[in-house]
Amino acid sequence: MPLVLPRSTWIEPGARRRVAEEAARLDAARALLVTDAHLRAAGVADEVAGLLRDGGFAVEVFDEVEPDPSDATVDEGRARLVAHEADVVVAVGGGSVLDAAKAIAVRGANPGPLRDRQGYGRLSGAGLPVVALPTTAGTGSEATRVVVITDTATDTKMMLLDDRLVPAVALVDVELSATMPPALTAHVGVDTLTHGIEAYVSRRATPETDELAGSCVALCGAHLEAAWRDGRDLDARAGMARAAYEGGAAFSNSSVCLVHGMSRPLGALFHVPHGLSNAVLLPTVTAYSLPGAPARYADVARLLGVAAGGASDEAAGAALLDALEGLNARLEIPRLRDLRGMDRERFEAALPKMARDALDSGSPERNPVVPTAEEIEELYRRAW
Ligand SMILES: NC(=O)c1ccc[n+]([C@@H]2O[C@H](COP(=O)([O-])OP(=O)(O)OC[C@H]3O[C@@H](n4cnc5c(N)ncnc54)[C@H](O)[C@@H]3O)[C@@H](O)[C@H]2O)c1
Ligand SMILES: [Fe+2]
Repeated sequence: MPLVLPRSTWIEPGARRRVAEEAARLDAARALLVTDAHLRAAGVADEVAGLLRDGGFAVEVFDEVEPDPSDATVDEGRARLVAHEADVVVAVGGGSVLDAAKAIAVRGANPGPLRDRQGYGRLSGAGLPVVALPTTAGTGSEATRVVVITDTATDTKMMLLDDRLVPAVALVDVELSATMPPALTAHVGVDTLTHGIEAYVSRRATPETDELAGSCVALCGAHLEAAWRDGRDLDARAGMARAAYEGGAAFSNSSVCLVHGMSRPLGALFHVPHGLSNAVLLPTVTAYSLPGAPARYADVARLLGVAAGGASDEAAGAALLDALEGLNARLEIPRLRDLRGMDRERFEAALPKMARDALDSGSPERNPVVPTAEEIEELYRRAW
């Protein structure tokens, strides 16, 4: 199967300066620039708006995207798009902004409740082209046919996957993600690593996705801790920016698995940031899944650089589990029970819904070991 990817991708320092030229190639003249209040205040969004205006574009800025964006935000953005008569959507931000922008771009051609579009290939119309400039490294949303939008009516994070959601252009500019503070760097970096691992062990992996996923995992092994330790290390930052793109490209064409399936309910119900909720689950879920694909996980350990040369698959798998625990400890990822706002009673009461929502998302079916709802509840408890 050919890979579904952005038509045009630039991964280089200063890639943002290509924004007007790339948007013009899409026959566009009026841009809706989607971002959030923080990136607006930091000046990044306005810099990109200025580059577009210098290139002759009429620009409207929508800066109201919140973390884990909701269906209401998508509809608000859509109204701004219509009022501005935009013909291209430019997204400057993390996964939340990129996802909101991608959903805003297809909203007009896909009326009705967004929840009816949840799942695989449920869009009926194409939208406006999207130019994506990621500022975290990251979700890889700049490369994926996926958006995750919170359904305010049911408190679930809906995943929509459709070819029409792939951005037309990805501008991966390390200078945009170099401003991330250490904790954010750690959380989004483990998200990237999880994309690489899950795309690689997924039942949907292909030789083509293996190449991208393998490179993503290797780049995380080489650069994640360095980027976290010293945010000014541009070589490490660039490695992680590329890893994020490749991880997104890999899982978008393969899949994510049980970690992501279990992570979304934590985000929806307890507002744990996406990268962090993956990170707290990754060691526990990997230990559970390893017997289903020992050779694949051994490859992951070798790619990550944590298995000794000549180690057996069994030894490499054990080294991987140690490495993931150690990585979390060094990156100061807390246990689930230590997260802000976590409460054991509420957590226990929410377990049946979380397990059901995880299964409903379809991601656990792609996992090397496919769990029952009871097993998922038990895995949440183990990660506590
Ligand atoms: N579409 C996909 O393929 C995909 C994949 C994984 C996750 N997601 C979704 O993406 C969302 C999470 O995205 P995220 O982890 O990138 O975080 P985010 O976009 O929610 O941003 C988190 C915070 O970091 C700030 N921030 C962003 N860039 C910064 C920078 N360079 N310097 C300082 N602060 C910065 C933002 O303003 C925000 O306050 C979740 O909703 C998740 O479900 C989507
Ligand atoms: Fe993710």
